[in-house]
Amino acid sequence: MSAPSPERRGALADAFAARYQRPPAVLVRAPGRVNLIGEHTDYNGLPVLPMAIDRHITVVAAARADRCVQLANRDARYPPRRYELQPEPERFAAGDWGNYHQAAAYGLRDALGAAALGGADFLVDGTVPPGAGLASSSALVVGSMLAWLAVGGHAIARGDLAELAARAERYVGTQSGGMDQAVCLLAQPGCALRIDFDPLRVHPIAMRPDDVAVVVCDSLVTAEKSGAARTAYNTRVIECRLACRVLEHLLAEAAAPASHLGQLQGRRADCHAGDLIGMLESALPSRPLTLDEIAASSGARRRHLAAALGGAKPDATFALVKRARHVLSEAARVERAAAALASGDWALFGALMDASHASCRDDYEISTAEIETLVAAAKTAGALGARLTGAGFGGCAINLVRRADVDRFQRHMEHHFYRAHPAASGREHCFVVHPSAGAEVRKTV
Ligand code: GLA
Repeated sequence: MSAPSPERRGALADAFAARYQRPPAVLVRAPGRVNLIGEHTDYNGLPVLPMAIDRHITVVAAARADRCVQLANRDARYPPRRYELQPEPERFAAGDWGNYHQAAAYGLRDALGAAALGGADFLVDGTVPPGAGLASSSALVVGSMLAWLAVGGHAIARGDLAELAARAERYVGTQSGGMDQAVCLLAQPGCALRIDFDPLRVHPIAMRPDDVAVVVCDSLVTAEKSGAARTAYNTRVIECRLACRVLEHLLAEAAAPASHLGQLQGRRADCHAGDLIGMLESALPSRPLTLDEIAASSGARRRHLAAALGGAKPDATFALVKRARHVLSEAARVERAAAALASGDWALFGALMDASHASCRDDYEISTAEIETLVAAAKTAGALGARLTGAGFGGCAINLVRRADVDRFQRHMEHHFYRAHPAASGREHCFVVHPSAGAEVRKTV
């Protein structure tokens, strides 16, 4: 399932014409992704190693003469939406797909200026399963932005657009990092993409498809980027900021507060990840702590800590030691995994995936019972590595499987997880994904 077939493109163009009484001017194909390793490191300014997959959100669009935006989806679960381009458009309900489109508008207005962004009609189609942790929402934001730029005759360099799209997507209320948008825009076919942040840099690494395959297993538990999963995600972001504040205090850092753990680590070349983790472990108990407890144990000023709280309730508790231990150790695993991938050391790459998963489960606490069952079944079936991918709290596990073992692996997973699962029928749930190109824009549909 690579680029949409001519038939599918034709059907999409016909559906657009039937809905809006004119042909679309542009078609954009924006891929979803799996993250091979480097979970929850991106918003800490630390590296990730995802790959774009051969499943896409496809957006067709045409400009309008007024300031109205119309949005429709071929999937009936996403009802048509309409809004006016104005400084503060009325938001749709929390979790509504229209908010992701408004996020695209918000980002583009920021970059181009309000007057330059005109109204447009959009029709969306997709093969990325929604809410499965495969970045379908980022693909929608990026695809909408690219389509909008193309119909308006504007251009933004892809690296700049990746950063803009990441900022724009925070409009929906999740304080996410920049991995999904960067890989969606900058991936190269056949390659995983090492991404570094602040400033954004990418480095493709060939995946050697004859050796191994990446098999996605859906836990069948939706990981919506709204509601409880969003709150849990944003709490992790705050915990990492607080850990950064405490480490600055422990290191007697005189410079202005670092934006994130990655910047702090970059400033302190004398400290390895293990040193920073050790400092936190000595200063704080690893259980969740209130702000007062963090200040009392570490000696950091409460006022300094409170500035990192964002919207969190002041009586909330934060597990700083565990969160920072995951993030800093995960970044070190990304370094090793990128080298293992480049040299085709699959045993090491798989072991690093397993270690990443254990850290996500035990220290970042983002796994679920279903993902644990899947990962255990995958290891029994001989996966070289198995781990949750994306934000967690549901969604998918990914498995590194020797190419020759893929059929046997899939049969094992069918038998041991999906056969008895009530939500499994009628839904594709265990499939191979191929490392794919970043988003593609076609002017004639
Ligand atoms: C989501 C976010 C990303 C990243 C991952 C976790 O996909 O959108 O920015 O933080 O979770 O690695």
